[in-house]
Amino acid sequence: MSDSQKTAKVSFDDKELELPMYAPTAGPEVIDIRKLYSEGGVFTYDPGFASTAACDSTITFIDGDKGQLLHRGYPIDQLASKSHFLEVCYLLLYGELPTAEQLEDFEHRVTNHTMLHEQMQNFFRGFRRDAHPMAVMVGVVGAMSAFYHDSTDISDPWQREVASIRLIAKMPTIAAWAYKYSVGQPFIYPRNDLDYASNFLRMCFAVPAEDYNVDPVLARAMDRIFTLHADHEQNASTSTVRLASSSGANPFACIAAGIACLWGPAHGGANQACLEMLREIGTPDQIPEYIARAKDKNDPFRLMGFGHRVYKNFDPRAKVMKQSADEVLDLLGIEDNPTLQTAKELERVALEDDYFVEKKLYPNVDFYSGIILDAMGFPTSMFTPIFAVARTVGWISQWKEQISDPQLRIGRPRQLYQGKTLRDYVDVENR
Ligand code: SDX
Repeated sequence: MSDSQKTAKVSFDDKELELPMYAPTAGPEVIDIRKLYSEGGVFTYDPGFASTAACDSTITFIDGDKGQLLHRGYPIDQLASKSHFLEVCYLLLYGELPTAEQLEDFEHRVTNHTMLHEQMQNFFRGFRRDAHPMAVMVGVVGAMSAFYHDSTDISDPWQREVASIRLIAKMPTIAAWAYKYSVGQPFIYPRNDLDYASNFLRMCFAVPAEDYNVDPVLARAMDRIFTLHADHEQNASTSTVRLASSSGANPFACIAAGIACLWGPAHGGANQACLEMLREIGTPDQIPEYIARAKDKNDPFRLMGFGHRVYKNFDPRAKVMKQSADEVLDLLGIEDNPTLQTAKELERVALEDDYFVEKKLYPNVDFYSGIILDAMGFPTSMFTPIFAVARTVGWISQWKEQISDPQLRIGRPRQLYQGKTLRDYVDVENR
């Protein structure tokens, strides 16, 4: 963290505090309030943490007004068009784009850790067939701490590295096997001659009864979807992983906690909810009714895939995803996909409506991703697991950054207590 160049003065009651301020390399300055309680006897109040920096980080930067997303300084649109997912994984994990030799070694390490301990298949078989794949992923990833004991000691840099590679490598296998289990088909093992995205598609859609050749168009689209979901600063699930890791929990338990948080429809579950919403809307002529419902304060309905805590302009990932949706559906010969037409019309109508303009609500990463995944043959229940596969590298990168921070303390927020003050117990006969 940079040294403090100036201070913020906070005065209340008979107190006058000077709190240090720090300048970022990009984004807002911060006021260090760590002494506010010990010197001022008060807490700050920020439910939802809209104005709170919980850590300092060098991994990802978002400028919500410019619609900018940088991973280690590289803009997401350049990474999506010029790079590929495992190279982005290397960048997020180690801070720089790899040389050709570094990339080859990294890809070799990930590829050769894609298999799961054979006994872990029993975990899948303990679930009902109709279990949501996210429930399976939470369970199986958490269970990894019971199988990979040699990479749970977070004080050992080598074990941290092994756990990181294992999680990035095995998440596609876990997600694919959760899908196979749900459709009653046999598990398909990973292949070391396939790239990351192709391996995942083959494990999802191949069957032992015949050969399966991955469509390179779909593999490229899958890889780009992984890249677009890789990391996103201190979002809810990443903050969950950081809070879990602050207690010293092992990496598998921390990532399982992140998966659980991502599942929510306000977060990573929005891609499934968005496609289900688009299907419920059905045709463009039904859009006005749903726009009205989204604006109605008495109706809990919200446009899924719209809005963002940070982006108050466009979500750069949504722009790339929209281009991908056009390309993939066109190449698959699904030109007049009704869901895509409805989505484009919904975006047009919403972005012309004062409510959405005033509240700065734009399509986010989840608005178009489901349309592509649906066209690729995935059921909506697999949309969030795919988000989790991609976000694992972001969670791991943030987890590694936090674990190696010498200032690391257990996360322990306080509260504005509004409950009953001290009172004595009343025996039941006197109540
Ligand atoms: C992701 O944080 C990240 O980085 C997340 C993510 C990542 O990569 O990790 O980007 C991934 O989670 C994207 C978001 C996916 N969620 C959805 O698409 C669900 C629909 N969106 C909303 O639930 C909402 O926009 C959130 C959760 C995304 C943001 O919520 P905020 O920041 O708490 O904003 P808010 O709920 O306070 O909304 C502000 C206003 C409210 O109206 P007022 O109370 O001010 O009158 O905008 C309204 C909201 O009612 N509003 C919406 C809306 N989103 C916000 N109204 C209708 N439809 C919507 N989608």
